Amino acid sequence: MKGRVYLIGAGPGDVELLTLKAVRALASADVALVDDLVNREVLRFLRPDASVINVGKRGGCRSTPQAFIERQMVRLARQGKCVARVKGGDPFVFGRGAEEAEALRAAGVAVEVVSGITAGLGVPAALGIPVTHRDLAHGATLITGHARAGQTIDWRALAASGTTLVVYMGIAHLPQIAAELRAAGLAADTLVAVIQNGTLPGERSVVTCLQDVVSDVARAGIGSPAIVVIGKVVGLAAARAAPAVRQVA
Ligand SMILES: C[S@@+](CC[C@H](N)C(=O)[O-])C[C@H]1O[C@@H](n2cnc3c(N)ncnc32)[C@H](O)[C@@H]1O
Repeated sequence: MKGRVYLIGAGPGDVELLTLKAVRALASADVALVDDLVNREVLRFLRPDASVINVGKRGGCRSTPQAFIERQMVRLARQGKCVARVKGGDPFVFGRGAEEAEALRAAGVAVEVVSGITAGLGVPAALGIPVTHRDLAHGATLITGHARAGQTIDWRALAASGTTLVVYMGIAHLPQIAAELRAAGLAADTLVAVIQNGTLPGERSVVTCLQDVVSDVARAGIGSPAIVVIGKVVGLAAARAAPAVRQVA
């Protein structure tokens, strides 16, 4: 079987944040299976004769079932095709890339992971926020704001960690997250940045504090996809991002 699959991270949005390795993998693909959050501009690196299959969800629609995506990749690879599975950010950070790699390997399909810049690092960085800093944060925790049914997120332990908290998929649960962190002892004036569509032309962001984050985000009309960054490092963005709303045209 000559076919293979590249699990490619396309980065947070800005096409220039694509890695050289991702560009090379895209150029070698016969077919690309592309997630919603991927900037379609990256598809310009495919060969003109490559086909594109859009998968994933947008605007609350049902996503293509995971099992279907995995079956498609196995089927195409068994036909000898080179498949580019293109995901936003990094495929192994909240991207179900690990599940896909496992399924492919179990089916005997060669798979190569091409890491990308994850939104939780690249999006704050574009705003001037380093997630770690020698004086301000000795570490960073990447966490989902959207636990699966039956799972709980220990916000108390996260608050006690003293690390910068970088929350993916946190917008829908922002009131609960803010309340839990306050109850866990984080001060009302703990700095928070919420950045929607980071690194893209429609980027919007709010720099605020834990006490005001819910009302400020609602007032600014910020929605998904957004990264929430909580901690002292957010102060380093204050010079660039207005405390209310910063909108990049
Ligand atoms: C299913 S996760 C995928 C994460 C992706 N694998 C990564 O490494 O960035 C989707 C979440 O990533 C975040 N996200 C992805 N792209 C973003 C962007 N350009 N701006 C802000 N948040 C983004 C949002 O929290 C969104 O809900």
